Amino acid sequence: MKKQRFVICGLSLRGIYHFVLPLIGKNTDGGPNFTNQAELVGILDIDQKRVEEFQKKLGLQIPSYRADAVNQMIKETRPDVLIAVGPDVTHCEYIVAGLEAGCDVISEKPMVINSEQVRRVQAAEKKSGRTVRVAHNYRYGPIPKALKRLILNGKLGRIINIEFTYNLDTCHGSSYFYRWNRDRTMSGGLSIHKCCHHFDLINWLVGDVPAELCAFGGLNYYGANGLLRPRDAHGQPLSPAEEKRKCRVFQKFYTDRLDPESSEMSTGWDGLKLPYDVQYPPEKRRYIYDDAIQIEDTYNAIVRYQGGATMSYSCNFCTPWEGYILAINGTEGRIEVSHRTDSDPTGKMSSAPEIGLITFYPLFRGKEVIEVPPVAGGHGGADFLIRDDLILGPSAESKELQLVCGSEAGANAIAMGEAVWRSIQEHRSISIPGLLAGKY
Ligand SMILES: NC(=O)c1ccc[n+]([C@@H]2O[C@H](COP(=O)([O-])OP(=O)(O)OC[C@H]3O[C@@H](n4cnc5c(N)ncnc54)[C@H](O)[C@@H]3O)[C@@H](O)[C@H]2O)c1
Repeated sequence: MKKQRFVICGLSLRGIYHFVLPLIGKNTDGGPNFTNQAELVGILDIDQKRVEEFQKKLGLQIPSYRADAVNQMIKETRPDVLIAVGPDVTHCEYIVAGLEAGCDVISEKPMVINSEQVRRVQAAEKKSGRTVRVAHNYRYGPIPKALKRLILNGKLGRIINIEFTYNLDTCHGSSYFYRWNRDRTMSGGLSIHKCCHHFDLINWLVGDVPAELCAFGGLNYYGANGLLRPRDAHGQPLSPAEEKRKCRVFQKFYTDRLDPESSEMSTGWDGLKLPYDVQYPPEKRRYIYDDAIQIEDTYNAIVRYQGGATMSYSCNFCTPWEGYILAINGTEGRIEVSHRTDSDPTGKMSSAPEIGLITFYPLFRGKEVIEVPPVAGGHGGADFLIRDDLILGPSAESKELQLVCGSEAGANAIAMGEAVWRSIQEHRSISIPGLLAGKY
């Protein structure tokens, strides 16, 4: 069998641990390697030192390219598949270049960062006849799969409305506010970067497409005026080091790991300890109360679907536990799930995932509790399955449950996220098809 040739655009943490190591036969996450079916033939990144260090540490000699050399990389390495897994803003250019050169594309979520970029990707996809698949891994979790089965089996009847709350804890939630993700020009803001996971999950579960969305929200905990920000007796900000010493987020998660006097910040778990100096210049201080933060950390939205169902959605990036509370009401009954997904960020406690419990309440009978055992692997077991699908092709289960996410579903999740921040800014509801068509 001919091996599929892959190139990667963005030697990110996600790129390394989810795609690159399994492709080169050095997987560390407990999942399989793919060296018999695939090979990595090119690496592109803006940070050449990072790539060199990576290759040196692993004894590799894979051709590497600068950020502006995607066409050269494709010409010289002749890939079948291009993986876009750098900061979200970089996806569009690399996806389009890959499609125009005749490659299939895998993009990390969000596919791109706004509806204008969606149109560029979809035009290139249509013209090329190749495909874009988006790594919406939440669909692949054991609980979402069980919910999808219940819905496909008609247990709920016609879906009427959805109640969905997703909370990010003080460690995970705050982490977005010192990494590139805090910048709307890099990530589209968290209503796209993070909430696209949640929107795609619900769109896929209910099997419908969003029609209209209206939202409220804001920046409450983080940023220059963040309510968590420690201040002096006169209400003025403290010196950078003092601010960290007094900051409850820093005290809880970083005191024993980072020096408050330095500009160093935790940029995510990286066993290889690679430099990140282009993206995060060491001399530049970054913290969760910086003036540069202009995105929101709290959202409430109401969504109307084309088939008539509605959803109330809430997301908060500073809560005591991480996970979600989801209920879906239909003409035959209601399903409810409350699930904690947080691992212990300090690494001091067991981070074993909790067993999932779905409660099904038929409209006129007693309740049924469905136990969903935890599954090994990142993001609640979803990551192994989606990677198999993306690299080897969809499994029978993936086809049955429609797990593979294409550009249309990727686009709807992005448009909902864009509609959220636009609705907050403009105090009006936003048409999702209108936004996607550029009639905004
Ligand atoms: N599906 C999931 O659960 C999941 C989880 C984590 C991250 N992600 C996604 O994966 C992607 C990477 O996120 P991350 O946090 O691992 O990234 P990261 O911050 O670890 O790495 C970003 C990499 O991109 C490089 N880079 C920056 N600008 C570039 C450019 N213009 N061209 C090429 N390379 C450039 C940086 O040097 C760095 O190597 C994002 O799209 C993110 O949304 C998805």
